[in-house]
Amino acid sequence: MRVLVIGSGAREHALVLALSHDPAVTALACAPGNAGTAAVAESYGVDVATSSSVAALAQEWRADLVVIGPEVPLVAGAADAVRAAGIACFGPSAAAARIEGSKAFAKEVMAAAGVPTAHSEIVDNPAKLDAALSRFGPTWVVKDDGLAAGKGVAVTTDLAAARTHAMTLLDGGHPVLLESFLDGPEASLFCLVDGTTVVPLLPAQDFKRVGDDDAGPNTGGMGAYAPLPWAPSRLVDDVVAKIVQPVVEELAARDTPFSGLLYVGLAITSDGPQVIEFNCRFGDPETQVVLALLRTPLAGLLNAVATGTLASHPPLEWHDGHAVTVVIAAEGYPGPIRSGDVIAGAEAHGVLHAGTRRRDDGAIVSSGGRVLSVVGTGPTLTAAREDAYRKVTDVHLAGSHYRTDIAARAAKGEVTLP
Ligand code: AMP
Ligand code: GLY
Repeated sequence: MRVLVIGSGAREHALVLALSHDPAVTALACAPGNAGTAAVAESYGVDVATSSSVAALAQEWRADLVVIGPEVPLVAGAADAVRAAGIACFGPSAAAARIEGSKAFAKEVMAAAGVPTAHSEIVDNPAKLDAALSRFGPTWVVKDDGLAAGKGVAVTTDLAAARTHAMTLLDGGHPVLLESFLDGPEASLFCLVDGTTVVPLLPAQDFKRVGDDDAGPNTGGMGAYAPLPWAPSRLVDDVVAKIVQPVVEELAARDTPFSGLLYVGLAITSDGPQVIEFNCRFGDPETQVVLALLRTPLAGLLNAVATGTLASHPPLEWHDGHAVTVVIAAEGYPGPIRSGDVIAGAEAHGVLHAGTRRRDDGAIVSSGGRVLSVVGTGPTLTAAREDAYRKVTDVHLAGSHYRTDIAARAAKGEVTLP
């Protein structure tokens, strides 16, 4: 099987590595990729936001399977274009990807499917903002209705800050979604879906804020771990039965079946799991820890999704133990970043690349906000943390920063359910 992966983050590096270990894979390419994926797969340039370019590359390269990592090409219809070219594709159609591309659409689907989620209101007129804000709080959740790479959300106890964020979005022409605040620890559950059949992967937890103890602004994700020692044993089955299956059935009933990876972002509240968001693709950085524990060959599994044969795929197999990933970010991230610095230690085992490129002189240099995602594993969460942080200290990038508390509270048994 010739497999082409679209994207350039640490998620795609993790996908490419896992695919390279599947004996069914005879050739592997990644576009546009980064310095890490280039060490394992052929690299091609492509504008991922132009669906016809993605499909043309898949045809020229004679791909048997295309795996689309990021949301931008999916929302733009890249999977539709690839399938129209007669090539199997892992990733939903543009119509189904709206579950991530429009929060308002996601809310409408959830309401129709009876899925528990935060109460919400859309505000598209600044004159109606203050009245709407008064119906929420004392913790305000203010979101951009469209794609915002995890950075369009403000969660704040400060009404003035909530108002400022909402006005910035409205001034930019973006409708604003106000939501009731969901208390309780967060979990990310990835589900493989082939239109009808749902196969959940291990649950993970992501750390969205830039600083230790969840200080500072939201980012694309600063670290993750899996599985979740604190999660109720029924969590995954419950979420599949009460949330994922109804949403999958609702999308199928609308003639927009979901095929690919449905990412459920949850808050585990005192009323049970509630949906914070859906994504239409593998999450980053959770993929780096989930795939570190997956034993089942990945290409066969993703191909079963793409060809609608997930129901006859054998049950998934997992390694025992735990995985932790720590993101090393460029100076300034999630704001304007410094780039072009040489990275030492970037080719070590367990160091996945995101914003990296190889210079003509062979040096690996930083070229993005999230630069590396360092993965550690171990028989316990504590051992996996130690492994990850040991590897982090062997990497050197001027001005870079990372969180020191990824999975710390979970390892100490301090994550509690409300
Ligand atoms: P989103 O872009 O919707 O994933 O939101 C980014 C982050 O904001 C989430 O991972 C949560 O940490 C936080 N968040 C979003 N919505 C809520 C909510 N209704 N209640 C509490 N926290 C939220
Ligand atoms: N880790 C959050 C995301 O992928 O959106």
